[in-house]
Amino acid sequence: MVLMTVARDVTVMMSRRVMPPVRPIAVAVIAVVIAVVAARVHVARGHRDAKAPKSDARITSRRIRVLMFTTAMKRTTAMSSRAYHASTRYAARTPAAMRRGRGRGGVVDVRAKKKGFAEFLNVSIDRERARASWYNDREPLKPGVVSPMRAVPAGILRPPYADSGHLPEYDDRKVQVQTTAEDIEGMRAAGALAARVLDMAEQMCAPGVSTEDIDKAVHEMTVEAGAYPSPLNYGGFPKSVCTSLNECICHGIPTVETVLQEGDIINVDVTVYLNGYHGDTSRTIMIGTVTDEVRHLVETTEKALQAAIDVCKPGTAVRKIGATIHGIADAANLGVVDKFVGHGVGKEFHSGPTVRHHRNNDPGTLRVGQTFTIEPMLTIGTTRDKMWKDGWTSCTADGKWTAQCEHTLLITEDGVDILTASPYRASLSANK
Ligand code: MF3
Ligand code: CO
Ligand code: CO
Repeated sequence: MVLMTVARDVTVMMSRRVMPPVRPIAVAVIAVVIAVVAARVHVARGHRDAKAPKSDARITSRRIRVLMFTTAMKRTTAMSSRAYHASTRYAARTPAAMRRGRGRGGVVDVRAKKKGFAEFLNVSIDRERARASWYNDREPLKPGVVSPMRAVPAGILRPPYADSGHLPEYDDRKVQVQTTAEDIEGMRAAGALAARVLDMAEQMCAPGVSTEDIDKAVHEMTVEAGAYPSPLNYGGFPKSVCTSLNECICHGIPTVETVLQEGDIINVDVTVYLNGYHGDTSRTIMIGTVTDEVRHLVETTEKALQAAIDVCKPGTAVRKIGATIHGIADAANLGVVDKFVGHGVGKEFHSGPTVRHHRNNDPGTLRVGQTFTIEPMLTIGTTRDKMWKDGWTSCTADGKWTAQCEHTLLITEDGVDILTASPYRASLSANK
């Protein structure tokens, strides 16, 4: 529409001969440039407002070309294809990625760097996105004040990063396979505790409760059980749990100002480090009554996780997890976030395999004793994110809402065990 208006004005100017002959050419060139930029902004607007694009693959062909261009650049800018593939969250610890690193050594976003024309185009899109948009009559999230880190009593085993705040090395090729009965028992205990802590958090979620309240309760229950809350000081993360509301994709930081309202959704992501083993689980909790669209989002995310778990057994290709999730999201007209991934978990918080939730062609198969997470994030609108200045909080670029759920899994001889299965959720469905 914008494009057509500009073209018509140029025609009018030319037909009235109000300018010397050379001018119309200059004007036409300028008009074309303006039209191209306007079209980009228009696409970005449509991306945010229109009902349309559920995943990046469905944007116009113009957009796809730009995406392909930037993808090609990402691959060539000193980033090995392995490091690129190994996701943006944990794996990008190559020197090149570190130079581009953002935040406080926490999350490295290899997608941030763009050059040339692609960058120019994306800058105009980002400016659009900077205007936070409302969804469901809900005010967009804004950063609150982060209170000091909570103390963990002496005597509780601390992970290696607890004091330094370093982000541990991530090597996609190192997977975690539990071979001894002791290790498997350790993982079961950590998973069970994480699930119980999350059950407690779910039951306290209600209008008026702040994410700070949730952090305090999670922290206290974790340390009372003799465990360390794994997020605390992991790569400098300042709190004991991640709380991600509404348009927040993941890694939301709890604050006093972030208060639950009727109709909200919140992902609470609990990880505990118990006797040397991490158990990692999250779910999205609906606060009171939510809209049908939002309920559909949350329920489809749960369904996608369960379907992905159902394909897991020894010999399953890791990429089948992404194919399963993406298939369900497509059928439900929802997007799959590709920036954040599942991971090996065990004695380390994050390791290989990188478990991507969208369709992919990654190598690798699951084997007996392997412990890892699946944690899909689905979206109503765009799957692209905007990272807050805190270096952690990742929100959808269009402000539309997103849901996530996560389990820690163990591959057994004949299938898979959900180590973070929830007693509370099980009791709810038993009473139905
Ligand atoms: N629990 C998250 C995951 O699922 C990781 C949180 S890391 C933190 O992998 F530093 F943000 F806490
Ligand atoms: Co995880
Ligand atoms: Co988690």
